Amino acid sequence: MVNHRERERRIKGLILAAGLGTRLRPITSLRPKPTINVANRPLIHYAVDNLAEVGIRDIGVVVSYDTITILKETLDGYGEGVNFSYLIQNPPKGLAHAVQVSRDFLGDDPFVMYLSDNLFEYGVSSFVESFHPDRGVNAVLALVPVEDPRAFGVAEIDDGKVVRLVEKPEEPQSNLAVAGVYVFDHTIHAMIETLEPGAKGEYQITDAIQMLIEQGYHVSPVEVRGWWKDTGKAEDILDANRLELLKLRRDIRGELDRAEVVGDVIVEEGAVVRRSTILGPALIGAGSLIEHAFIGPYTTIGNGAVIRNAEIEYAVVGTGTHIEGVKPRIEGSLIGEDVHIAGHTGWPSTHRLILGDKSRVMLHE
Ligand code: G1P
Repeated sequence: MVNHRERERRIKGLILAAGLGTRLRPITSLRPKPTINVANRPLIHYAVDNLAEVGIRDIGVVVSYDTITILKETLDGYGEGVNFSYLIQNPPKGLAHAVQVSRDFLGDDPFVMYLSDNLFEYGVSSFVESFHPDRGVNAVLALVPVEDPRAFGVAEIDDGKVVRLVEKPEEPQSNLAVAGVYVFDHTIHAMIETLEPGAKGEYQITDAIQMLIEQGYHVSPVEVRGWWKDTGKAEDILDANRLELLKLRRDIRGELDRAEVVGDVIVEEGAVVRRSTILGPALIGAGSLIEHAFIGPYTTIGNGAVIRNAEIEYAVVGTGTHIEGVKPRIEGSLIGEDVHIAGHTGWPSTHRLILGDKSRVMLHE
C-alpha cells in the first residue's frame, strides 16, 4: 500500500523538450520552443512550476544536442529544491522514444510526463491526485473535449476507464483530446520495449498506452479543469499569452512619466513608460522603454525592448527588440528577440526588409 506522501516523494517528472518546433519557425530557428516567452516567462518554467507544485523534486528534461545548452541556461537556478537531469534524445523519434531514452533516470518509479509546449490554467495536481497505484491505476490521461479532435490523440471512455486511444484519427470516435500531461507507473516501459514505429517512423506514446489497455491495465481518464493550451503555432503563443496575462494583477514597479495606464498592467523594474497609453491586460518587461506609444490589451513587451512612436496590440515582442516610428498599428503579431522594425518617411517610398528564412510579414497597402 503506497500512501499519499510516499507517492509524492517517489514520483518523478519528465519534461519533453527535444522537439524542433518547426511550425514556429523562424521564432524557433535559434531557440527551442520551451524557451519562448509567454507573459515574459519561458514556457518550460510553467512546466517546472506545475510539477514542483505537486511535490515533484526530480525532473528529467529530455533534450537534443541542439537544445541542451540553451535549455540548461534557461533552467539554471530555477525551481527551488528541484534537481534537473538532462537526457539526450537524438534524434527525437516520438514521445515513447523520449521515455525509452529516460529509462535509467526513471527506474521503476511512477512519473508525470509533461509536454513542454502545454499550458494548463490550474496546473497538473488533479491528474497526479487521480493516480492511485493502490487501487490498481497504472496510468492517468488528461482529457479535454474539443470541437475538432483530429489534431490530437483521441480517447474513448467506458465505465470510468479509457478503453481505446487513437493518434490523430481521420474519423474521431469521441471529442476527447489527450492533453500533454500523463502519469505512468513502470508498466509503460514493457509496452514501449515492444512498440513498432508508427507514421513518420515515430514511436507514439498513444500506441504504447493502447497496448496497456489491450493487456488489461487500468488507464484512468481525468478531464482538464479550466483552459488548456497546446502552443504549436504562432497564434497559439499569442492566445497563451492572452490567457496567462489574464491571471496577472496590476503591479507597477517601473517608472511612469505622463503615462495613462489602465487596468491590469505589469510594469517591471527599470522599465520607463513615457507619454504613452497602456491598456491592460499587458506586461512591460524589465528595463524596456515605451515612449509616445500605445500598448493595447493582451500584449507582452520583452525585457529591454524599445517601443517608440508606435502602436501595438495583441502581440508578443521579444527581449531587446526595437519598434520605432511604425504606422499603422501592429496587431496579432509574434516578434522574436533583438528584432528591429523602423518606419521611415524619406524617399523613396519603399519597404526595406531583412528577414530570416520562413519569416511572415503582412504589410498594409
Ligand atoms: C502530442 C500527442 C497527442 C496529444 C498532443 C497534446 O501530439 O502525440 O496525442 O494530443 O501532443 O499536445 P503533438 O502535439 O506532438 O503532435
